[in-house]
Amino acid sequence: MASSVKHFLDFANIDSADLRAIIDEAARRKAARHGMLKGANDADSPLSGYTLAMIFEKASTRTRISFDMAIRQLGGSSLVMSSGDMQLGRGETVEDTAKVMSRYVDMVMIRANSHAAVQSLADNATVPVINGLTDFNHPCQLMADILTFEEHLGPIKGRHIAWVGDGNNMAVSWIEAAVKFGFKLTLACPESYSPSANIIGWAQGQGADVKLYGDAIEAVRGADAVNADTWVSMGDADADERMKALAPFQITDDLMAEAAEGARFMHCLPAHRGEEMTASVIDGPASLVFDQAENRLHAQKAVLVWCAGLL
Ligand code: CP
Ligand code: NVA
Repeated sequence: MASSVKHFLDFANIDSADLRAIIDEAARRKAARHGMLKGANDADSPLSGYTLAMIFEKASTRTRISFDMAIRQLGGSSLVMSSGDMQLGRGETVEDTAKVMSRYVDMVMIRANSHAAVQSLADNATVPVINGLTDFNHPCQLMADILTFEEHLGPIKGRHIAWVGDGNNMAVSWIEAAVKFGFKLTLACPESYSPSANIIGWAQGQGADVKLYGDAIEAVRGADAVNADTWVSMGDADADERMKALAPFQITDDLMAEAAEGARFMHCLPAHRGEEMTASVIDGPASLVFDQAENRLHAQKAVLVWCAGLL
């Protein structure tokens, strides 16, 4: 409830300077622990004494493991729960859950179906709440993606990123990132699975160079990185329709050849070879996907430090 609590829910409500500071902190911490065992603490253990609780309403590999290792490396500890094992899953309100959890733990990370529920959790918590993916967006993944892009291709400001496929939660986070980090974003999505006019209008209203196309080649031409995501996200019930509508948006070697010289392929994972991209693209030399996955750890550490008010 206290407005001074630093929630990490949505780039739209976080200053660009803070997001930049989080990326820089992630890069610094990553470099500082080069060669250390993954279970060893960072030398300063800044979150010693902190406990992070994680709630999952949906499946997760990267978010769950990277946050668990992140809080350990920062000197703190974790609790991991499935919402189905909590009274939340039997109808206890989000508001009461937030108030109760705030009495036990220092931070909460939640992966949920409903963005509104995560917002409500944050509104009623007295500790920081972190969005580990909702139906609306996935800001934690974007922090890892920007860190990865910059490691390989230099500062992202003024560069050109393409998004090809479903206008889903990841697409929304890329749109928000274009506003906050100042890069050009071109999206190619089928009309029936495009991001909402609201989010695109918001980004353009903020002065961002964000454009939506119906054709993949138009969006990819000249891009420094080309992004894909699964065509069927967790919770989507219309897999057959999606497969049909998204088939022309597969990322192939030919499509990658339309991008800039040295362009990279990005994907938050999990991936489906032969659907949103060919195996030759995701397993080829332009692919950054496993660096993106590793960087979830480094980025999430910096998000936790920021939430604790230590950045
Ligand atoms: N990219 C990502 O969020 O992966 P998980 O679903 O495995 O957490
Ligand atoms: N769009 C995907 C991202 C998974 C990390 C989903 O929501 O399932």
